[in-house]
Amino acid sequence: FTEDVEESVALAESAGFNVVQVLTANRDKPDSTLFIGKGKAEEINSVCTALNPQVVIFGHNITPVQERNLDKLFQRRIIDRTQLILDIFAQRVTTNEGILQVELAQQSHLATRLVRRWTHLERQRGGIGLRSGSGEKQIELDKRAISDKVAILKKRLAVIVKQRETQRKSRLRNNIATVSIVGYTNAGKSTLFNSLTKAKVYAEDRLFATLQTTSRHLFLSENHEIVLSDTVGFIRNLPHQLVAAFRATLEETVYANLLLHVVDVASTTKDRQIEDVNEVLSEIKAETIPQLVIYNKIDLVENITPRIVYDQMGEPQAVYISAEKMQGLDLLRQAIKEKLELITARGLIVRQELHYEPWKLK
Ligand code: GTP
Repeated sequence: FTEDVEESVALAESAGFNVVQVLTANRDKPDSTLFIGKGKAEEINSVCTALNPQVVIFGHNITPVQERNLDKLFQRRIIDRTQLILDIFAQRVTTNEGILQVELAQQSHLATRLVRRWTHLERQRGGIGLRSGSGEKQIELDKRAISDKVAILKKRLAVIVKQRETQRKSRLRNNIATVSIVGYTNAGKSTLFNSLTKAKVYAEDRLFATLQTTSRHLFLSENHEIVLSDTVGFIRNLPHQLVAAFRATLEETVYANLLLHVVDVASTTKDRQIEDVNEVLSEIKAETIPQLVIYNKIDLVENITPRIVYDQMGEPQAVYISAEKMQGLDLLRQAIKEKLELITARGLIVRQELHYEPWKLK
């Protein structure tokens, strides 16, 4: 999958790394001790000697054992996909809620890999500053420190979740529909949110520019008010501890009456990205929420003009727009309105209770 390699490079760059060499390998299944084969390991080793990179990044998730072995072999820090995404999140996060969530994800990831890895963790925001102790005893102490920390973080997050619930109840009382923007990272969610609400939300051509939910009231027409939320970008194989840690943020999605699923129409991998987003949505039990597919960035593709696509029953299914060039936004507002009216006519989906099981951290 060349697109996988491209995405890994984009992730590495988003995390602030300068990629000096890309190596790929073909294997039916990963080697249990090294993830890669002996030959590939030698190849990487000689690249390490020649270019002396600070880190070796794997575009896949590797096991703690593999990580330890590779670390020993290459004599430098090994980063896997989860760690890379965690690094980006740690660098980007700004709100209290986000900081708590990233910290929770880091702690949970850390708990599975208690090796001498403290130096880089200390550097990161939210690192717990453990000393580079060695031996079983130190690891035991560290384990306890982590589980204490996780308990505190969960408690603090619970307070935020409670506040959200109160807000949601008041919206429900006032009959205001909630619309959440979801989509693969970099699809243009924040740009769309900004264009629709004129709010300034961080938008950048990097992966995961937005990490927290931002919500604004929005009038579709004079007396049709909704609450629109921008959420964290989705990505293939979103690490489980991240999904769990971002529960408070993603919850906004689960409670939405309508999802605007933003798709980068210019991306060559858009179909796979749509599938990936839907997969995460079903993981958070949001797969039954009605969706309006927003094909964004039509300015980058020839011969596509703004329009609404209806199904045979006359229900809006998709809208073609350019969030950046502000093309098709009136059509989008119209489609949201029509869709919400149909949803309301069928009876708003009101979820009294969330099933928390999939979120539970081990
Ligand atoms: P994450 O926060 O990473 O999940 O990204 P996002 O989905 O919020 O995307 P964002 O709005 O940050 O946009 C990503 C990039 O796409 C930015 O460089 C935008 O300027 C660009 N972009 C967004 N919409 C359009 C569009 O309609 N046309 C073009 N050409 N570029 C767009």
